[in-house]
Amino acid sequence: MASQSLNINNKTYTLNLNEDTSLLWVLREHLGLTGTKYGCGIALCGSCTIHIDDKPVRACSLRLSGLNKDQKITTIEGLSENGDHPVQEAWVEAQAPQCGYCQSGQIMQAVALLAENPNPTREEIKAYMNGNLCRCGTYLRIVKAIEIAAEKTSVKT
Ligand code: FES
Ligand code: FES
Repeated sequence: MASQSLNINNKTYTLNLNEDTSLLWVLREHLGLTGTKYGCGIALCGSCTIHIDDKPVRACSLRLSGLNKDQKITTIEGLSENGDHPVQEAWVEAQAPQCGYCQSGQIMQAVALLAENPNPTREEIKAYMNGNLCRCGTYLRIVKAIEIAAEKTSVKT
């Protein structure tokens, strides 16, 4: 166990945890950032998607030992102060969620998509979002939300 600092949502957190602890566990259990969800735990469902240096990653697959304070970690809580990031607003407009469990991961993946490709085609959206599973089957509304966000604005992470 060693002291380690991480930059999460533009705040510095100092942690004293086993270096094998997963980032998902750190976020949810130690920092109370429960917007990032635990689904499969083996990098297959996308419900734990966050950003590291603006790229989407699965928090369940990362260990503290592989992280450092120079990386910018962003969770759904860090996207906007009041839930008013353009992609979050598009999600509301499209009424995308059903149970909601997968949706923060979906939104984080979508924000990364639009940062890379501000005007994706429907096929590009489907391909980029392919690894984010939704048991409720809200895929059509998710695609719609991304199209709304792309139409309205250039998206910032
Ligand atoms: S919980 Fe991380 S990908 Fe499923
Ligand atoms: S909205 Fe229920 S799992 Fe996606």
